Amino acid sequence: MKTYSERTHEKMKEVLMDPSAPGPEVHYHMIRGGNAQSNITTNITVWEAGTVGGEYIKSYGHYHVGDLEETYTILQGEGIIILQSPIADESVESFQAIKVKAGDRIHIPKHTGHLAINIGKDWLVTSDDSPASLADHADYEPFKKMKGAAYYVVEKSGKPELVKNPLYKTVTHLSAPADLRA
Ligand SMILES: [Fe+2]
Repeated sequence: MKTYSERTHEKMKEVLMDPSAPGPEVHYHMIRGGNAQSNITTNITVWEAGTVGGEYIKSYGHYHVGDLEETYTILQGEGIIILQSPIADESVESFQAIKVKAGDRIHIPKHTGHLAINIGKDWLVTSDDSPASLADHADYEPFKKMKGAAYYVVEKSGKPELVKNPLYKTVTHLSAPADLRA
């Protein structure tokens, strides 16, 4: 298994609010543990800082296959973790945006779509405990089909703000800090 992989702009276009906007060649970097050569079992992810078409640089987002749960620890930077319940009929039951900073831990419950967004001026760095074989456990299709999560996180006057993804018909429960809401 390859230890290092990167998520390119080309791939991220599938889930961007504005796929035609220019962006860095690589949006985030993943170093996976669980190698035969090491005892390391955690994974490290590093997000570039900045925006693409106004949207803060983020991870692609995925659901887990089966009952897999996961814990993220923020090692550096400032971010927003998005959690959303399964997508059905182009709607979600709940959408949650949680602001995080270095030292915070976030638990990803099973069956919950998730992604992380770098809203800081420097790298966002996380450690997580998902299995090394995540490729077998991650389902990227719902986010691909809906071109991202139910809300995009966009820079407005230098601050992050939620912008609804028009492909979603209904978001029943929205939970987000007041300053993120337009
Ligand atoms: Fe995950």
